[in-house]
Amino acid sequence: MSAPVRFERCRGVGVITVDNPPVNALSTGIPDGIMEHLRRGFDDPAIAALVLIGAGRTFIAGADIREFGKPRDPEAATLRDLIELLEGAAKPVVAAMHGNALGGGLEAALGCNYRVGSPGTRYGFPEVKIGLLPGAGGTQRAPRLIGVEPALEMIVSGDFVASQRALSLGLIDAELEGDLREDAIAFAERAAAERTSHPRIGSPPADRSKLSEGYFEDYRAKIAPRARGLFSPFLCIDCVEFATELPLPEGLQCERELFEQCLASPQSKALIHAFFAERAAAKVPGLPKGLAGRPIAKAGVVGAGTMGGGIAMCFANAGIPVHLVETSEEALAKGLATVHRNYERSVAKGRLSEEKMAERRDLMTSGLSLGELKDVDIVIEAVFEEMDIKIRIFEELDRVCKPGAVLATNTSSLDVNEIASATRRPEAVIGTHFFSPANVMRLLETVRGGKTSDETIAAVMALAKRIGKTGVLVGVCDGFVGNRMLYGYLREANFLIEEGAFPHQVDEALVEFGMAMGPFGINDLAGLDVGYRVRKRQAASRPKHLRYSKIGDTICEMGRHGQKTGKGWYRYEPGNRTPLRDPEIEALIVEESKALGIARREVGAEEIVERCIYPLINEGAKILEEGIALRASDIDVVWINGYGFPRWCGGPMFHADSVGLGKVYEAVCRYHESQGPYWEPAALLKRLAGEGKNFADLDASAASA
Ligand code: 3HC
Repeated sequence: MSAPVRFERCRGVGVITVDNPPVNALSTGIPDGIMEHLRRGFDDPAIAALVLIGAGRTFIAGADIREFGKPRDPEAATLRDLIELLEGAAKPVVAAMHGNALGGGLEAALGCNYRVGSPGTRYGFPEVKIGLLPGAGGTQRAPRLIGVEPALEMIVSGDFVASQRALSLGLIDAELEGDLREDAIAFAERAAAERTSHPRIGSPPADRSKLSEGYFEDYRAKIAPRARGLFSPFLCIDCVEFATELPLPEGLQCERELFEQCLASPQSKALIHAFFAERAAAKVPGLPKGLAGRPIAKAGVVGAGTMGGGIAMCFANAGIPVHLVETSEEALAKGLATVHRNYERSVAKGRLSEEKMAERRDLMTSGLSLGELKDVDIVIEAVFEEMDIKIRIFEELDRVCKPGAVLATNTSSLDVNEIASATRRPEAVIGTHFFSPANVMRLLETVRGGKTSDETIAAVMALAKRIGKTGVLVGVCDGFVGNRMLYGYLREANFLIEEGAFPHQVDEALVEFGMAMGPFGINDLAGLDVGYRVRKRQAASRPKHLRYSKIGDTICEMGRHGQKTGKGWYRYEPGNRTPLRDPEIEALIVEESKALGIARREVGAEEIVERCIYPLINEGAKILEEGIALRASDIDVVWINGYGFPRWCGGPMFHADSVGLGKVYEAVCRYHESQGPYWEPAALLKRLAGEGKNFADLDASAASA
């Protein structure tokens, strides 16, 4: 194994290479290694300049996130020590960046005299996405180097900046198109030979006097809607403001203090959990190592409705040719018109160029026969949620599709095994549950049937990554992970309105908790008829002794299907999506309570949150017990990416750990007593609570098994 930091001399230039796979993070010991070699270069009279570069696929992608929250070695040098040494360097140091130069990596580069990069390099301060802020001078040096406005944008959004933009901002001094190492060495030689002094970031941001009155206040107000509930974006703004007011050393000190605050916050712990949970979800235990699955060169989609069209867009957006099949010219034309309208909207908003739109549209072909899918590598069926229709389609797909093709269903609740049994190749059948709008939502629940092969799973998990989705492998059960948990959440929301709350109160309490939207608002957005059809299908098998709220069905039968009909749980003014309380619905709810003999009472926000969120946790525990989800953290990924659960709470299972499983279990038992059998505590929840353990312990022991 090679040393994580290496030194080589190339002519008169010392090249320091960080080789700490996978992303050259600044783990303990790495700053020490770099500093040792810097000193060696400074002391060696034969060396005139130094280059700092990364081995493998990237420059330094930041501090080592895995080390946050763990005790640190007090003897080890910090990134700040490294930057201090860089800033005092007597010889020029050039950061040569490829891949990603992120967070602490970019901050280290800002401590160098020069920054150069390859054309494909991405630069950024993604700390805010894990609840932090750049804590090694990024908030102080970036505004001084590139100006307050672009620095603020980078730091508060956490978004990456492409090479050309970095060059135009002055974040890098040169884009080097050839061999980065060679070109950076030549750059360093020239700098040493041609200049007697070398640039250092120190003076106040040049544009600070040009900022409008109240600039930072306005910026805080501007980001408030998208940063709802979040803590660190606002501290990022505070820090950049310090950069306009304070000398560098004082600014660095303030930044440090706010960084420590972020690091200690529950939000950063939750966001870091979400970061690693998403990466863990991509790994499927038990799959043979290196199994890639069949490459997907061409895809097919059956059904050009909202879901089918959105799924087809996912393929085209990733550059994969896709053939869309419908049953009638009319349905096809309607579906394609929606797709085109979506693209045109993106062009109008400046999110997509005309050229790219044309490219994507060209990747889409369409027709009326399933026979046209004979050469695709994957076909995704996205038709009505009716088993009979799906069975017929899969029988036909089995006849026409080539051997080895993946046959996927976008069902959100039907039995994938039953669908697979309609074919002679159940090993090729899998569920790919996209979320609406499919071209926007990141979650892809990948449903493994009893006979789905490893190759099929590997192909679909790889495809998820390729089309920009977060794939989570789940097992077959009614509703899989996400919708199965949703049942309890919605059920309690409905019971709460029978007991005394109104829809807006339930929604407000859950939005206040952090959900992107409340259950009734989301119902109206998604369309009430979808859930209604599922409930009708389940009606015959629903145990009669269990409580069932009819209000949702009644509303749907009144023709109120949500936003699309202008009325649902709320009413809507034409062209406006703001939900407005509707006296007609509230009267209906009061009427229903009366008919049920329920004396309406005040329902507080705390009860609303517990009654809706704790069933998620209890059901999540049952899902884990049954092996439907592989890990508690997978459940978190599903709920964060598919159901608007606040990322900064880490997902329902992480939230449960934060509250304490003992407390959650006690509340579930209490509601079991008062509310009845729906609240039957999960055996796993009981066991973990009894042992003083949490879901993270369970995941950790499964990972090490
Ligand atoms: N620390 C530790 N591990 C990291 C890491 C980091 N900063 N960044 C990525 N990794 C790990 C991932 O967990 C993953 O590990 P695994 O293979 O065991 O699952 C592996 O590196 C590869 O990561 P991805 O699967 O995400 O690979 P991609 O190629 O898709 O993306 C990336 C690479 C763009 C670098 C992406 O990983 C990323 O955005 N990483 C986070 C970068 C970041 O947030 N940096 C700031 C850190 S905080 C900081 O620097 C504080 C400072 O200001 C003081």
